[in-house]
Amino acid sequence: MKVLVIGSGGREHAIVDACARAGHEVLCTPGNPGIAAQARLLASAQDAPALAELAVREGADLVIVGPEAYLAAGVVDECERRGIPAFGPTQAASRLEGDKAWSKAFMVRRGIPTAEHRSFDHLDAALGHAATLTPPIVVKDAGLKAGKGVTIAHTPSEAEAALREIFTQGGAQAVIEDFMTGQEVSILALTDGERYALTPPSQDHKTIHEGDTGPMTGGMGVICPFPVSEEQLQVIRRDIVEKTLAGMRAEDLPFRGVLYAGLMLTPQGPKVVEFNARFGDPEAEAVLPLLESDLAQHALDAARGQLDPAQVRFRDGASAVVILAAPGYPAEPRKGIALDLPADSEEAKVFHAGTAEKDGRLVSSGGRVLAVTGLGEKREEALERAYALADRVGFEGAQLRRDIGFRIGLGGKPG
Ligand code: GLY
Repeated sequence: MKVLVIGSGGREHAIVDACARAGHEVLCTPGNPGIAAQARLLASAQDAPALAELAVREGADLVIVGPEAYLAAGVVDECERRGIPAFGPTQAASRLEGDKAWSKAFMVRRGIPTAEHRSFDHLDAALGHAATLTPPIVVKDAGLKAGKGVTIAHTPSEAEAALREIFTQGGAQAVIEDFMTGQEVSILALTDGERYALTPPSQDHKTIHEGDTGPMTGGMGVICPFPVSEEQLQVIRRDIVEKTLAGMRAEDLPFRGVLYAGLMLTPQGPKVVEFNARFGDPEAEAVLPLLESDLAQHALDAARGQLDPAQVRFRDGASAVVILAAPGYPAEPRKGIALDLPADSEEAKVFHAGTAEKDGRLVSSGGRVLAVTGLGEKREEALERAYALADRVGFEGAQLRRDIGFRIGLGGKPG
């Protein structure tokens, strides 16, 4: 099969890697220097129709869309219009991620467990409501924010600052939610809108500093599988994934692609923190290397409404991802830093997230620069391999968290 992957980060590198491993011809736009080793790169197209035309011109059998912005721009709709199967939700269905106020209202309508919330489209009303709450509270920009745009406000002044920032930086709506306690876990469902297969549960580490401190980032590392009990899994399947897919069908928004459920395992059971409409990043770099079956075939089946969940197989064992981020990230990442990469092995690989080539040299070009994945029989072994490879990367000033997995007693630091 000829597969066109859209995107340029670590997630897309992991998608390309999974398709190439299964023997497919892979194209990627715009891609990055790491992806170039496994796929033919195509110059980036400006908008959704141009991307779909690119897929037609290249004779792609399947398009896999990585980032949410392309989904929200309607790339899947444009491909479908031209008869090219595309893995991902339509523009309308990607609202589940792209409009957090709508998404929360959907959860309430459909009886999907989530934190109590209220949405606001005016700063004054939001500030007035926040002033009645006892921190900590969660303040979210309702629009697409690349996995960021969320503040856990521990004081009234933090809540006020977060709300002011949303409305002064062009945000149209803010969501204010109760703060939930428990372990956070990411569950990704590959789905054709009705049938679905879950990837192993994983846990992202979202703040820049160890011990889950400092500003939020797009994600600094992952441990997989994250331990989830059978009882919790049953609730996640029945009350979250199945209700969401059924609800989307009932609202004439059938959801095909990857349903990413960011969950909190609260003392009252699993509850949704947020939905995303695509693979998580860096969760993709953790779960896709464990996939034994053929991602492109599953994506094609799902796009055609014919996913067979029994065909989706993950190897036993574990994975861990350590992100190497640029100095200054997340506020002002320094770009153009020279990178020197060690060779990958069967059990550890570097995915390129924010890299570029300049004057024949590999340099950093973004905030999260590299995602280093280790695989192993056990989580400890996977972590050891990820850190061993990360430590051999030449990247001056790189920031990385040494405590990936600490919330389940791994990675060195207590919770
Ligand atoms: N890892 C968080 C996200 O992909 O949104």
